[in-house]
Amino acid sequence: MSEIDEIKSKLDVVDIVSEKVRLQRAGRNYKANCPFHNEKTPSFIVDPGRQSWRCFGSCGVGGDVFSFVMKTENMEFPDALRMLAQRTGVELRGYKKNESRDSYFEINKIALDFYKDSLMTDEAHSARIYLKSRGVDQASIENFGLGYSPKGRDSLKSHLLFHDVDLGNAVECGLLNKFEDGTTRDFFWGRLMFPIFDRSGRPAGFGARSMDDSLPKYINTAATPVFNKRNTLYGFHMAREAIRDSDLGVIVEGYMDVIAAHEYGYKNVVASMGTALTVEQVRQLKNLASTFVLALDQDVAGQEATLRSLESAWQIFGDANKRSSDPLFAGNPTKINVVSLPEGKDPDEFIRSEGSDWEVVVNDALPLMEYLIPVVSGRFDLDGPGGKGRVVESLAPILRLLDPFDREKYIGMLAEQLSAPVDTVETALKQIRRGFNQRDRNVGENQYKKFEDLKSADNNYKLDEYTLSLIINRPELKEAALELNPECFTRTEDREIYVRWLNLDPSESLMKLLDPVLEERFSSIQNYTMVPSSSTDTLIDFDTCIKRLERRRLQRYRADLIQTQDTDSPPSDDLQNELGGLDKKILETYKGDKEGN
Ligand code: UTP
Ligand code: MN
Repeated sequence: MSEIDEIKSKLDVVDIVSEKVRLQRAGRNYKANCPFHNEKTPSFIVDPGRQSWRCFGSCGVGGDVFSFVMKTENMEFPDALRMLAQRTGVELRGYKKNESRDSYFEINKIALDFYKDSLMTDEAHSARIYLKSRGVDQASIENFGLGYSPKGRDSLKSHLLFHDVDLGNAVECGLLNKFEDGTTRDFFWGRLMFPIFDRSGRPAGFGARSMDDSLPKYINTAATPVFNKRNTLYGFHMAREAIRDSDLGVIVEGYMDVIAAHEYGYKNVVASMGTALTVEQVRQLKNLASTFVLALDQDVAGQEATLRSLESAWQIFGDANKRSSDPLFAGNPTKINVVSLPEGKDPDEFIRSEGSDWEVVVNDALPLMEYLIPVVSGRFDLDGPGGKGRVVESLAPILRLLDPFDREKYIGMLAEQLSAPVDTVETALKQIRRGFNQRDRNVGENQYKKFEDLKSADNNYKLDEYTLSLIINRPELKEAALELNPECFTRTEDREIYVRWLNLDPSESLMKLLDPVLEERFSSIQNYTMVPSSSTDTLIDFDTCIKRLERRRLQRYRADLIQTQDTDSPPSDDLQNELGGLDKKILETYKGDKEGN
């Protein structure tokens, strides 16, 4: 039994949920008003038999004890694991050698306080002048914990030693540099310090700005056990409530933009910290509001990297859209709009400039496609050979994700922009699609034999294991794998490994990021032997895996849904509709899956 299973065996999901929510008995299950969204009739179900919970209302989420604790306590998996291990008295092997995450946060806090105090010293006079010249007021300095890293290269180090901090841990936090001869020095020096907090408001890393023109402008903490730029949004813990309350989130690029916005009372603003929006960032945001506004840098908006990130962002938001346009899930579809600021201005400058109105600009933001069509068209020579085709090709991945009505509308708009007939644009799009299909058709039939092993997927986790092994071993599946709902995986370990993989920086190794408790499972997945030969085979295999996992998830969902029904009364129309919708979806998963399940 894994440590996770052991912890689970000692806990009852009903007890854990009862601590947060008042449960009423309903047949063999329990019901409550969902703690994750506002509702009047209970649609939150706890199933003691399967030790699971689920909201059948607008949030549509569910999971096990771990995910419940993570959600209600706003914890990451490792913290939830520690908490529940402690509670159940299960000893986590392999943790002694690793410092606990808490200690990293503590060290960061010591550094943060040191940088804050340093901002008040004589040496930081110019830093204070600089902040003033940028219009940052005292309240913002305090709110955001801004500071200054002194120039002496051992300033922080001495302070850490004074506080008995283990320097090795400080190196791991990215606060000290370690040289080949073993000596350590301050990593940040002579810079303005912006602490970066995680979702729970704990100091996870730092951004550091130079105040002369020296490059790079910002140095940021590299990946550490508690910090990863890809899954962090600057200002998130301060913006979350406002995003929820206003049902609107604004995503900007820079630290200074967030600070200016909050200073002026626009508290629903977070920053992606300069990188194109990542999938992990989108996942954190998507359930908070129905509209998101991006303030994109004009220079990069039409570039491939940005388009790709918008595509995956849209895909994730689009998942929510698919759900909400489904009678199964009430709620509004997520909209993504893009703000256009006057030439060359970033949100910080704009918000601080006399007579500007941020709210108007945000309200006037254009739907993503309306914004992108002219921007992308502007990047290619439309009259040159293949120019218009390149525009269509660049936009195709996003167009493909739209619902048919929107797609028709934007194809019309694109045709107009390109001064081309709608039919021609359609033809171009079809050609691109045919390119994809051709690949699929060239594949033989026999790869399905490989699924022999997976047939009894439900009992022995083979399907989960195989799918994960493909994901981990085949980088070309990255795109396709983003579609998976983590809930498809049965075991907590597998879900967590999948989520970690999603959050992975290309430069990092997954193994290194994993908690010791997940390592064993990971090695067995990594060494899973059954891997198909060519990459087209892999794609087909993987597609089948996704369908089967999804089917299993839907079937479980269906079973749970039936359980929610009072046994004494006849099934309501709503329930029958929902079941009908589910059956249709389940049927879809059989398409192209020759063996079925
Ligand atoms: P900006 O250059 O727009 O920075 O980069 P800014 O926050 O508006 O700062 P000011 O106004 O120039 O002082 C946007 C974000 O990109 C990341 C930072 O997170 C920054 O806030 N960035 C930028 C870096 O990480 N490194 C860099 O060298 C530049
Ligand atoms: Mn700026």
